[in-house]
Amino acid sequence: MPTPASAPQSSPVLHSRPVAYAVRADFFRPSPVRAVFDISMREGMISLAGGNPDLGVLPLDELGAVAGRLIAEHGLEVLQYGTGAGLEPLREAVCEVMSTAGIRAVPGDILITSGSQMGLELVTSLLCDPGDVVLVEAPTYVGAIGTFQGLEADIVHVACDDDGLIPAELERTIAEVRAQGRTIKLLYTIPNFNNPSGITLHPDRRPVVAELCRNAGIALVEDDPYGLLDFWDTPLQAIRSFDESVIYLGSMSKIFSPGIRIGWVLAPRDVRDRLQLAAEATTICPSVLSQHLANIYLREFDWRGYMNRAIDRYHERAQRLDAALAAHLPESVRWTRPHGGFFVWLTLPEGLSAEALLPRGIEEGVVFVPGTAFFGDGSGDGNLRLSFSLESPDRIEEGVRRLARVVTAALEI
Ligand SMILES: Cc1ncc(COP(=O)(O)O)c(C=O)c1O
Repeated sequence: MPTPASAPQSSPVLHSRPVAYAVRADFFRPSPVRAVFDISMREGMISLAGGNPDLGVLPLDELGAVAGRLIAEHGLEVLQYGTGAGLEPLREAVCEVMSTAGIRAVPGDILITSGSQMGLELVTSLLCDPGDVVLVEAPTYVGAIGTFQGLEADIVHVACDDDGLIPAELERTIAEVRAQGRTIKLLYTIPNFNNPSGITLHPDRRPVVAELCRNAGIALVEDDPYGLLDFWDTPLQAIRSFDESVIYLGSMSKIFSPGIRIGWVLAPRDVRDRLQLAAEATTICPSVLSQHLANIYLREFDWRGYMNRAIDRYHERAQRLDAALAAHLPESVRWTRPHGGFFVWLTLPEGLSAEALLPRGIEEGVVFVPGTAFFGDGSGDGNLRLSFSLESPDRIEEGVRRLARVVTAALEI
């Protein structure tokens, strides 16, 4: 109902009393990616910042008809509470999705969550006490940093190269952290087309990393929202495909829609059961309507066909971004060349600060995310993340021209 013009926009404050926050309230910080979201929406701005999938390939009319039918014909079920574990047919369907990555699993091993972000939150709260150490790639997903910091875990980065986590560095870091008397609870890795670096963990390194974690008694959490978005169509074998102790996080966000908020956790049965208890204490159950829609999408739609169309777009945009960077940026700038996912990681020439460049980029009409967002320790200011998932190739090229003007000007100062 529209608000009458004379009605107050918010209720008057009758009593104001200070809220006694928990200590941990200070650990929840605004996401640097969301901070540039509003700026991205400004007229004329080119955003190489966000990590939104291209939903333009989706059959919206057909999906709308399915959603309508679900409510009209099965409303009493799909608008009701559901089970904590999630719909059994959807759990079956995600087992099928994971089989592409070589994973063998049964529905009883799966917990459906409201996005994989929730899965990560549950796993962290189940495994980590305040002060426990979480090992992560350098750099890593900004949302994971937020979760770990919010739950008072200490983040320690492990060095990576163009083939991902360096096993010798992982081994060294484990020994170093332990020598300080600290407890390491988990290694969090995004082995495929890492957000933000675009780097993929080399297949030869995967068993080595898994073995190092197993031997050290550290849980390995494999977060894999981008694995299917491979431009070369060479399905990457998940670490979980050869190590059943791995806790694997999956998501519908990049293969269908982030708005339906459906993800899943595949974990050893005892871990999965405890995760379900934690999930029920958080959300009672994932959205039943969303689960039905996701289930029908995976079973009755040519979802791989739509995904492949999106991948073609991502591929074209990634190529255009790479070519534009080569054409317009000074030679001293380096960047990654991913064959999938959404992101390129750029390394600035010595002495330049990505945080200092951002306001100048905004003035020029281009937004990106400074590298500091992807480190828990404030480092990364010599890097920035560029996303190629949503802007058109021409706008990507123009965005890079604008970025190049900013970088070149900064080098001349
Ligand atoms: C590496 C990684 N993990 C998890 C997520 C969150 O995914 P979801 O939408 O399933 O919560 C994202 C989203 O960008 C991501 O990049």
